[in-house]
Amino acid sequence: AAYNPLATVRKKFVISIATMNAAKQAAGYKAIDNHLLPSFKYVGIGSGSTVVYCVERIAQLREKVPEINSMYFVPTGYQSRQLIVDAGLPLMEIDQFSAGELDIVFDGADEVDSQLNCIKGGGGCQFQEKLVGKCSKKFIAVVDDSKISQRLGEHWLQGIPIEVVPSAHKKVAVDLKRLGASKVTLRSGGKSKAGPMVTDNANFVLDAYFGEIAPERVAELDRSIKLLVGVVETGLFDYADEVYIGRTSGPTEIL
Ligand code: 5RP
Repeated sequence: AAYNPLATVRKKFVISIATMNAAKQAAGYKAIDNHLLPSFKYVGIGSGSTVVYCVERIAQLREKVPEINSMYFVPTGYQSRQLIVDAGLPLMEIDQFSAGELDIVFDGADEVDSQLNCIKGGGGCQFQEKLVGKCSKKFIAVVDDSKISQRLGEHWLQGIPIEVVPSAHKKVAVDLKRLGASKVTLRSGGKSKAGPMVTDNANFVLDAYFGEIAPERVAELDRSIKLLVGVVETGLFDYADEVYIGRTSGPTEIL
């Protein structure tokens, strides 16, 4: 039967820990310990500062779990490709796969709501992150507790990252406002680089703030944005299976 991510059980695991980096590490390590099965062949590796700890843990486990040496790791962008290479893990690119062919992907998120919908793309990698996610049987998110909200847009005020074909950025910005975005910004390349940020796919990123988004509206809003000519991909993800949350204070709990 075809893989249906919405049919899977969605869970949150909360791990208590003292500092932000330790919280990210706890989430990354626990997710790997609970989900990296020796029988896996193809494993997706997402982007950002939290998945660094997933890769660190995989590298640590190589001796104890020698099957890791015959797995292939599939990156969601330049940064995670480098992580895989630097850890000496076997690398494969996503162009070799179609839907459901990767066993699992571990990825970070910018915000996670009560139904485990996510905003991703803070690092501008949302297209390949979604591609790897759609090619994976399971999507495990790893975050610290600053990312948790009832509704997307509650804490992540930068807006939904939307990758656009460069020549369409003005048109899409106007379309997004018509769709209800209160603010749309063309992401810049940062202080040292003049002009817009350019993604791994040579596109631009618009950050569009739609206010707080009710969990049941996420999939529909994603579809409406995707229909705009010039949009390559959005940072709305409606299919995390499980979320590992490293907590910076408070008691340990499993939800
Ligand atoms: C990059 C992403 C990242 O996964 C997201 O920004 C979270 O990053 P971090 O773990 O550094 O907070 O989507 O495009």
